[in-house]
Amino acid sequence: MTTTTKPHTIKPIDGKLGILLVGQGAISTTFIAGLDAIRKGRTKPFGSVTQMGTIRLGKRTEHRSPLVKDFVPIANINDLEIGCWDIFEDNGYVAAKKAGVLSDTDLEAARPVLEKVKPMRGVFDQQWVKKLNGTYVKTAKTKREYADQLMDDIRKFQKERGVSRTVMVWCASTETFTEKSDAHRTLKSFEKALDDNDPTIAPSMIYAYAALKLGIPFANGAPGLTVDTPALIELANETRTPICGKDFKTGQTLMKTILAPGFRARLLGLNGWFSTNILGNRDGEVLDDPGSFKTKEESKLSVLDTILQPELNPDLYGNICHKVRINYYPPRGDAKEGWDNIDIFGWMGYPMQIKVDFLCRDSILAAPLVLDLALFMDLAKRSDMRGIQEWLSFYFKSPQTADGLYPEHNLFIQEMKLKNTLRYLMGEETITHLGNEYYGM
Ligand SMILES: NC(=O)c1ccc[n+]([C@@H]2O[C@H](COP(=O)([O-])OP(=O)(O)OC[C@H]3O[C@@H](n4cnc5c(N)ncnc54)[C@H](O)[C@@H]3O)[C@@H](O)[C@H]2O)c1
Repeated sequence: MTTTTKPHTIKPIDGKLGILLVGQGAISTTFIAGLDAIRKGRTKPFGSVTQMGTIRLGKRTEHRSPLVKDFVPIANINDLEIGCWDIFEDNGYVAAKKAGVLSDTDLEAARPVLEKVKPMRGVFDQQWVKKLNGTYVKTAKTKREYADQLMDDIRKFQKERGVSRTVMVWCASTETFTEKSDAHRTLKSFEKALDDNDPTIAPSMIYAYAALKLGIPFANGAPGLTVDTPALIELANETRTPICGKDFKTGQTLMKTILAPGFRARLLGLNGWFSTNILGNRDGEVLDDPGSFKTKEESKLSVLDTILQPELNPDLYGNICHKVRINYYPPRGDAKEGWDNIDIFGWMGYPMQIKVDFLCRDSILAAPLVLDLALFMDLAKRSDMRGIQEWLSFYFKSPQTADGLYPEHNLFIQEMKLKNTLRYLMGEETITHLGNEYYGM
C-alpha cells in the first residue's frame, strides 16, 4: 500500500442529478426501464460497479470492504432525472418497443415511466449517419446556432426538473469515421468552424461543445472522435469539466480484454484472432454502412496491440492476424451473437484453438455502464477533476488518454486504476497488492 493525502475536497450532493442522454434508442430505453425496475425493487442493479461493487480498504487483515456507493459520495439512484434527445419523435415506450430488448412483461411494467420520456429534437446531419433519415431535428443556419439551441434545451431541462447538477452521455448512433482536422486543433479554430459550418464538425461534437460550455461532464459511449479533440479537451480544461470515452466496452471486446491479459500473463503466443458478430438492432443497421463500421472497427482493433505489446514480445505476438466483422442480420434484433476463433500456441510452438460463442445482449451489458458513468462523472466534477478521466477507461473499448500515452486496455488494470482513484479521492491508501507487510519484509 502507498500513503496518499486527500487531494480533493468533494463538493456535497445538494439536490438531484440530471442525466441527459443523446439518443433514445436501445441502450437509453433499457437503462431507463432498468432504473425504474431497480427503484421499485423488481430487480437488482446487476452489472453496476457503483451499486453492487465493493472496494477493499486497508490491509487484508482489516476486513474492510464497503459497497462503493457507501464509500464514495455519489448520487442516490432515487435522485436522478433523465432527459433525452433523438431524431425520431417516438416516446420512450415506443422506442423501447422498437428496440426489442425488453420482454413484454418488463416493457409493460416500465410503460408509465417510458411513456413520459419525450425526446427533445436532435441535431442531425445524414452525412454522418447514412442509414438514418432523422425527421425530428432542429433547424439552424450555423453549427453555432445548433450549439446555442442545445444549451437552451439543457437550461430548460435543468429548470423544469429542478436538478442541481447535470451530466451528458452519448448513446446515439455511431457517426461516420473521421480524423482530426484543423478545425479540431484549438478551441478558437473550433468556434470559428462552428460559425463557418465547417463540414468536419460532427453533430456529436456540437452536443459535446454545448455540454462543456455549461460545465457539464460528457461521456462518449460511441466510438466517434466527438470529444477526443484538442479543441474540446481545451474547453473541458477551461470550464473544469470531466470528459471520457470512447465506445462502451461490452460484448465481444469485453471478452477480448478479459481473455487477452490472461494469455499475455502466461506467455501463450497468438497467431490470430478472428471475431465475427451477427446482430439485428438499429445499431447493427447503422454499422452496416462502411463509414460507421470503420469508426467501430478502429475502436475494436486497437485493443489487442496494447494488451499484448508485440514490440516487447515479438516471438509471441509479432505476427497476429486480427480480424473483426459485424454482420447486420435483422432476425436477431438486440440478441447479438459474437463468435471468436482464437489461435494460440504454447510450449514448443504447439498450436491450440479457443472458440468463444457469446450469446449476449448488447443493451443489457451497456445499461449499467451508463449509470456508473453518470454517477462517477458527477463525482469527478464535484471533486474538481477536469479534462480526460482515464480512470474510467474500465468502461470503454477505446479509452481516451492524454496525448502521447497509449491507452490501457487490460480490464483488470483498469479496474485497479478505477478503485485506486476512488481510494485516492477519499484519502484512503491506494493498494499495490505487494503484500510484503504480511510477511515481515
Ligand atoms: N449496445 C452496446 O453494447 C454498445 C457498445 C458500445 C457502443 N455502443 C454504441 O452506443 C450507441 C447507442 O447504441 P444503441 O444500441 O442504443 O443504438 P440505437 O440505434 O438503438 O440508438 C441510437 C439512437 O440515437 C439516435 N440518434 C442518432 N443520431 C442522433 C443525433 N445526432 N442526435 C440524437 N439522437 C440521435 C437514433 O435515432 C437512435 O434512436 C451506438 O453508437 C452504439 O454503437 C453500443
